[in-house]
Amino acid sequence: NMSKKIAVLPGDGIGPEIVREALKVLDCLRQEFDVAVETEEALVGGAAYDATGTPLPPETLELAKAADAVLLGAVGGPRWEPLDYSVRPERALLGLRSELGLFANLRPAVLYPQLADASTLKPEVVSGLDILIVRELTGGIYFGKPRGVRTLDDGERVGINTLIYNESEIRRIAQVAFDTAMKRGKRLCSVDKANVLECTELWREVVTEVGRDYPAVELSHMYVDNAAMQLVRAPKQFDVMVTTNLFGDILSDCAAMLTGSIGMLPSASLDEKGKGMYEPIHGSAPDIAGRGIANPLATILSLGMLFRYTFHDEDIAARIDKAVEAALDSGVRTADIWSEGTRKVSTAEMGDAVVAALRAQA
Ligand code: NAD
Ligand code: IPM
Ligand code: MN
Repeated sequence: NMSKKIAVLPGDGIGPEIVREALKVLDCLRQEFDVAVETEEALVGGAAYDATGTPLPPETLELAKAADAVLLGAVGGPRWEPLDYSVRPERALLGLRSELGLFANLRPAVLYPQLADASTLKPEVVSGLDILIVRELTGGIYFGKPRGVRTLDDGERVGINTLIYNESEIRRIAQVAFDTAMKRGKRLCSVDKANVLECTELWREVVTEVGRDYPAVELSHMYVDNAAMQLVRAPKQFDVMVTTNLFGDILSDCAAMLTGSIGMLPSASLDEKGKGMYEPIHGSAPDIAGRGIANPLATILSLGMLFRYTFHDEDIAARIDKAVEAALDSGVRTADIWSEGTRKVSTAEMGDAVVAALRAQA
């Protein structure tokens, strides 16, 4: 049983606080379930910029490339906002995604029954919710050129970003989405703005073409504005959604709130071969950083996705999911998911509750 390696990149703000809890879970897996996994930590984001002058030092990128998988906390914060774009913490994340070829971002939004009262939506709207957003992650307006702010001859400044997809980029993310839909409810909704943006008209065409290879999947198309509205109105109509980089960013934060908190949503970012980076979808939460109150469950669930998608260890992945459920069953809640009748706990106490539940399975 050769030991596998996870590159651990805690990052900024609540990043180190939530990653610490995921590492506790990993320690427990080693002790109780003979999981042979090594970890190595490296600097990323603002922390890396402060120490080395760059948010994605070459050593960090090399470590991430050499490892079997990457577990990331979060990057960014107000301290680094005045910096030039080229050295902003967020650039590290984009650099990792693009350098590692992590084009397929899976963001599952699941409402745990224990949290039916934590959502701002009515329980009947969200109970039983289980949707998966497949977000294209290495293309679109995030990476398109030309980009930047220019000053014209007359002194007027223009800000430029470019929405661009070639058909092979659309095809490969569509294939991931259809494959995923085949393993779930066999319904796929592709979200675009084909009524206005030519680029997404091509998106719709290519997704439709790919769909011919998946006759068992019921494909639908929706404009992104309507999709945002439908997610809040009747989210259970969706099974799998596939969309562009920017739309997926926005829709997944929206979907997160259906589950009670953005602190509940994990993600997997995968390359063509199944190598992946795993991170909560939320950011560094500067407003609560350092207070020990952040919800670590999205990060712990991301570790679960790591075992599922990169290590192909469904047993361990399922154990992590079950331990999170059991922790919620025990009534503990971080502040973001607290409701009347439950016990408010710290980040560390929530991690401990998951570890205790995992031990109880041994
Ligand atoms: P954010 O996701 O960090 O926070 C939004 C709100 O959600 C805040 O009120 C925060 O307290 C809350 N929140 C987020 N995660 C939480 C958790 N685990 N538990 C409890 N509450 C939680 O978004 P933002 O405030 O727009 O961005 C802050 C910084 O994070 C920015 O620099 C942004 O660029 C960066 N960011 C990084 C990532 C990432 O590293 N993947 C993702 C999003 C934003
Ligand atoms: C996310 C974040 C990132 C994104 C930022 C921090 C670059 O919001 O992972 O959702 O926009 O992809
Ligand atoms: Mn985001």
